Amino acid sequence: MIDNPDTDGIAGGKIIVVSNRLPFVLKRDASGNLSRHASAGGLVTAVAPVVVRNKGIWIGWPGIQLDNPEELIPESDPNDKTPTAGLLSSQVVAVQVEPQVFDSYYNGCCNRTFWPLFHSMPDRAVFSADHWKSYQEVNRMFANHTIQSLRSLPKTEANGVACNTPLIWIHDYHLMLCANTVRNVCDEMNLKCKIGFFLHIPFPPWDIFRLFPWADEVLQGMLGCDMVGFHIEDYCLNFVDCCQRRLGCRVDRKGLLVEHGGRSVRVRPLPIGIPFDRFVQLAESAPAVLAPAPAQKVVLGVDRLDYTKGLVHRLCAFEILLQKYPQHLEKVTLLQISVPSRTDVKEYQELKEEMDQLVGRINGRFTTPNWSPIRYIYGCVSQDELAAFYRDASVALVTPLRDGMNLVAKEFVACQINEPPGVLIVSPFAGAGEMMHEALICNPYEINDAAEVIHRALTMPEDERTLRMNYLRRREKTHSVDYWMRSFLKAMGTLISEDGEEVLP
Ligand code: G6P
Repeated sequence: MIDNPDTDGIAGGKIIVVSNRLPFVLKRDASGNLSRHASAGGLVTAVAPVVVRNKGIWIGWPGIQLDNPEELIPESDPNDKTPTAGLLSSQVVAVQVEPQVFDSYYNGCCNRTFWPLFHSMPDRAVFSADHWKSYQEVNRMFANHTIQSLRSLPKTEANGVACNTPLIWIHDYHLMLCANTVRNVCDEMNLKCKIGFFLHIPFPPWDIFRLFPWADEVLQGMLGCDMVGFHIEDYCLNFVDCCQRRLGCRVDRKGLLVEHGGRSVRVRPLPIGIPFDRFVQLAESAPAVLAPAPAQKVVLGVDRLDYTKGLVHRLCAFEILLQKYPQHLEKVTLLQISVPSRTDVKEYQELKEEMDQLVGRINGRFTTPNWSPIRYIYGCVSQDELAAFYRDASVALVTPLRDGMNLVAKEFVACQINEPPGVLIVSPFAGAGEMMHEALICNPYEINDAAEVIHRALTMPEDERTLRMNYLRRREKTHSVDYWMRSFLKAMGTLISEDGEEVLP
């Protein structure tokens, strides 16, 4: 048994989560009052309730500049139904960074260097010593807040046994240096903690990673942890490889261990899931938003507007489909939802231009008085609307050029409650493509083949669709985001059994 209802199975019940963004965004109204606005991601859904129940702490950037360091974070609204309801302001540490430094850290180093590099697109990566300096500075700030929070945690007892090893859980490519600083200070001050890190994006192969001029420090930063988690085994092996080749660490590729500084760091594949049941509920209750047209089929794409998502390739593949298989004219529509993202970064602005033009060109070429081939939404949609799109679409196109996992693929299958179901098309270059074997796999770079795969999905017999979707849904239901979180805690050795013993990883 690996559950303890009082502490979610976390030894001692103490947890500090550190991520670039807080689990909600702060907004200021015209009179200067602050309010919280929910974030919808899987991380928040799974981890926020655990932090709430265990009186833990969440450290992150609040999304706006606060007036002064003492300005109070508002408490959650009493009617709040989101996963962060009940997260007291005393459990939240808002990291404030001077705007210029934040810009250089976030838009510069995080999103113009690590993002493209880790997605194996080095030509898009900018290497700047100034950005790197800001990255180091902001990571130090996050680490300092973490240490302060660690010292502020009350001493708790797990099942009568004093337990002094809180868990620090650091997330993503924004904070790769944080663990090492925390560990060094903890060692000096004789503070005990266990540190885990999870990377939500791919970890690139050595040949790509080595292009980063300050690669040593990144690896050393991550090796400050007790355990480093990635979505899939390939990313784990890439990391182990880089530690061996760049730092000369002794490694065990089979056991996924890296020796560093007299310690053994565990490396684990821990594929993230989604809150499956919540998406099913949303799909069951969401009103239809797509106009009912019996002979019309919708091919759906939902992505942040990001060059890693393969959106241009996708539109070109759809154009080829219409040209090659005219039977789909006036019968099939591509509904592409592109959520604005990182709009201060040049590459994202250029992609927006390119997409606008491409949609215009393809629509101009095929539109008839009663039909347009592409409906393009550049904006955010509500969770209800999204669930309805997922539920009522005939095909979902999840075709990134590279993607750590991709949760859209999983959310789509969760919402496929209609009989007969639709078809998922997924890229092999997304983590999701590694494990969702019953989807149609499509290389997004090969646009002619991609068009064939879309045609195959649109004409697939009902019984085959049902068979594939049943398997896909079963896997995602079992491997939900809660399962992911428990797997992480178990791999950290921070899950305790009912009799108070730590569950060994
Ligand atoms: C990816 C990253 C997340 C990030 C999200 C949105 O999924 O792994 O850490 O929060 O993109 O990007 P943004 O830059 O808006 O936080």
